[in-house]
Amino acid sequence: MRRSANRSSLIVVLLGAVAASCTHSHPAPANAPTPRVSPPAPAPVATRAAVFPSGWRFEAGGHATEAEHAMIASNSRLASEAGVEILKRGGNAVDAAVATGFALEVTFPAAGNIGGGGYMVIHMADGRSAAIDYREVAPLAATRTMYVDSTGHLTNQSTVGPLAVGVPGSVAGMAEALKRFGTMSLHDVMQPAITLAAEGFTVDSALAQSLVAGKTLIMGQGGAAPFYPNGEPLAYGAHLVQPALARTLRLIADKGPEVFYKGEIADTIAAQMARMHGLITKEDLARYVPEWRDPIVGSYRGDTILAMPPSSSGGVSTMESLNILETWPALPPFGSAMYAHDVAEAFRRAFIDRNRLLGDPAFVHAPIERLTSKAYARAMRDSILPDRATPSPTFTAARGEGMHTTHYSVVDAHGDAVATTTTLNSLYGSGVYVAGAGMFLNDEMDDFTSQPGTPNQFGLVQGEANAIAPGKRMLSAMSPTIVLDRNGNVLLVVGAAGGPTIITTTTQIILNVIDGRMSLSDAMKAPRMHEQAWPDGLVYERGGLSQAVVDSLTAMGYTMRTVHGLANANAVMRVGDAWQGMSEPRSSGAAVGY
Ligand code: DON
Repeated sequence: MRRSANRSSLIVVLLGAVAASCTHSHPAPANAPTPRVSPPAPAPVATRAAVFPSGWRFEAGGHATEAEHAMIASNSRLASEAGVEILKRGGNAVDAAVATGFALEVTFPAAGNIGGGGYMVIHMADGRSAAIDYREVAPLAATRTMYVDSTGHLTNQSTVGPLAVGVPGSVAGMAEALKRFGTMSLHDVMQPAITLAAEGFTVDSALAQSLVAGKTLIMGQGGAAPFYPNGEPLAYGAHLVQPALARTLRLIADKGPEVFYKGEIADTIAAQMARMHGLITKEDLARYVPEWRDPIVGSYRGDTILAMPPSSSGGVSTMESLNILETWPALPPFGSAMYAHDVAEAFRRAFIDRNRLLGDPAFVHAPIERLTSKAYARAMRDSILPDRATPSPTFTAARGEGMHTTHYSVVDAHGDAVATTTTLNSLYGSGVYVAGAGMFLNDEMDDFTSQPGTPNQFGLVQGEANAIAPGKRMLSAMSPTIVLDRNGNVLLVVGAAGGPTIITTTTQIILNVIDGRMSLSDAMKAPRMHEQAWPDGLVYERGGLSQAVVDSLTAMGYTMRTVHGLANANAVMRVGDAWQGMSEPRSSGAAVGY
């Protein structure tokens, strides 16, 4: 094995009292139904105490929310409660996920999101697994150079205003998921969201802060009256009622998704687009269809990973990273320089492949089987230098990011699980508020390669495979993921917001649980890092690595960068006979169960 003996001398600081010693060796179940197990069997994973660096802002050893039957973790307590209400009325995880999704549109408007799109990975306790892609598509009038001006420079129109908007997919996707896997009607699962919009709710600090942050963008696109009465953002504690949104939701609940794509709501969206010189027409909306896809099925140290295939890169990149890391029988101790090195180099290779090769499968053929194979991972592992960072070409640094995507994890009493990530892309998307329908529209067009070699708002430098074309889905990093234990039972439901840091955060939470044997609370609170190949640099959370580790990594050739926080995850995990849920400790939200 290439891992040389002198690597041990590079393990500068051991943060864990016990070295990682995961030695699972059971073969993973193939891509086949897994046995129905209800109620959930005890999880085989015994957790152990994590140790974080002394400067880290979270303490290890805290507790997640625990419940006997079911659990939902999302970025909004009200949205988690909406889903739990549906579960208590007899709904399954898919019914509850759709209820939570529509409630997030009301209570978490910065991300979401009937004006955007997303992905859902579903695993039913009877063994069926599926993935649905309701990513936005480029309007028919889109062109590959639409964001490049006559001087060859990129404009900001891929992120701001009407030209940034992709054809929204969420309503169609959630309705389709419900039709195939749910047990309740759209009308019934949407009631909690309709009530929240019609009767209102109290603005929490996350919403209040996001309205302050989004003010310039939104006002520049004509405003959004319910959120900015008299032009000023609603304050924490204000009561927010959204009559136009309540009407839109009622129309969808009563008439189905067709009203959004071919009926009255389509008319409203198309009229606003025409007024603002945007591209989306009634034809664009009428042509939108969500796509069922086979999940990426892989294994990591004996557990099964179910993840999202393209048009999201999430599953391929997560799986490629995990496969590379699995080539070592055990990872170095969490928090050590060698742990950071191995994980960062795995991420670097996964992102190089992602940014060069992946795109909408309707337009590009990517070698997904190869990229997610164990043989490819071994070749990638062999290219990792034992004690040096592998340099990547340098590009301009990524812009800062806010809260614009949201992930929620749902499990029910049968053992069904749903992982959903959904987004408007930037905070409040394009800033365009469709007043008649009470919703914001996304700026997802920026996820395309607007100009090969030039970074997008997340610093992602992407290639031809992700060039703009009419009707094409823009490549995503969203990574809704379900982990099954070796008995085929749901172990972990996880995903995140945060652009490319979604992939690296989702992967690290999986590593924390499987390799680190951390509790869910520790796995979520553990310091995170991020490496995306371009721009070259290892980003870590302030205080998340000890100075000695930072010094070692710098000596190994890493350009170290700190940020306050990385990504925003919401996860559910099975522990014994119960479920634990945890919303992002760095942000807002709540896990609610019963
Ligand atoms: O699909 C993607 O990869 C991006 N549109 C996600 C953006 C995002 O997560 C921003 N969030 N905090």
